[in-house]
Amino acid sequence: MSSNVRITLHPSFEVLAATTAARLITRLLDVQSERGEATVVLTGGSVGIATLREVAKSPAHLAVDWGKVNFWFGDDRFVPAGSADRNCLQAAEALLDHVPVDPSRVHTMAASDTVDGLEEAVAQYAAELAAAAQTEWENDDASPAQAPAFPRFDVLLLGLGPDAHIASLFPEMAGIRTKGVSVVGVRNSPKPPPLRVSLTLEVINSAQEIWLVAAGADKAAAVGLGLAGANAVQVPASGARGINKTMWLLDQTAAAKVPGALMRGEH
Ligand code: 6PG
Repeated sequence: MSSNVRITLHPSFEVLAATTAARLITRLLDVQSERGEATVVLTGGSVGIATLREVAKSPAHLAVDWGKVNFWFGDDRFVPAGSADRNCLQAAEALLDHVPVDPSRVHTMAASDTVDGLEEAVAQYAAELAAAAQTEWENDDASPAQAPAFPRFDVLLLGLGPDAHIASLFPEMAGIRTKGVSVVGVRNSPKPPPLRVSLTLEVINSAQEIWLVAAGADKAAAVGLGLAGANAVQVPASGARGINKTMWLLDQTAAAKVPGALMRGEH
């Protein structure tokens, strides 16, 4: 396993969410002091949304310049805009509605009643990523020769399913195998609802830091396999690798099957 992988244990779901929130606030502050703006990719799922709630509750969040945070989503459910299943709606209720974000920096995936089909939602998000990358590229003196297809992500949060899916990249399905594009549509998601839009692994792994958050005994097998370096097509979480850092932020029960040597940092 690459040495930029870190595992941190927390005594409970609540402590995990509160600590991840504190880490996120600190990271946003650090990145903003270096670059002026910061970019985070949000996740749905229980810990991901609870973390956002904890950010909103923390007095420290007032130090963040929320108007200069860019928000993207790792995946969303392709259901009507008002559906409680929408990750972006849950994120808004938990945090984005409670802090002074710049709405033009909140990049949500299209809902099923706002576009003509899943393919259009995919194309729209890919275009939005490319446009943001182009703007970043034009404003950066040290840019590569060509604009990349997606912007810089400072922190990318990922929940983890009991089957080891991340975002909406499920084991053995087309999405986890897809290369050369930034966004994929998912039609038969084993976790309802069936239609989803997701970033690809290639885009996920372009993030500076990936934080995988998981709590609960039902995640233990997936966490164990993910950390043991299983094949990413079978165990998508295993394929997530940030450029600078990959953190597995776990509660005790989710960490029950992590090999002892990894827990001791022998990797
Ligand atoms: C989704 C999520 C998904 C989620 C995991 C964990 O849209 O469903 O993005 O990847 O993070 O399934 O969810 P739980 O923590 O609720 O089990």
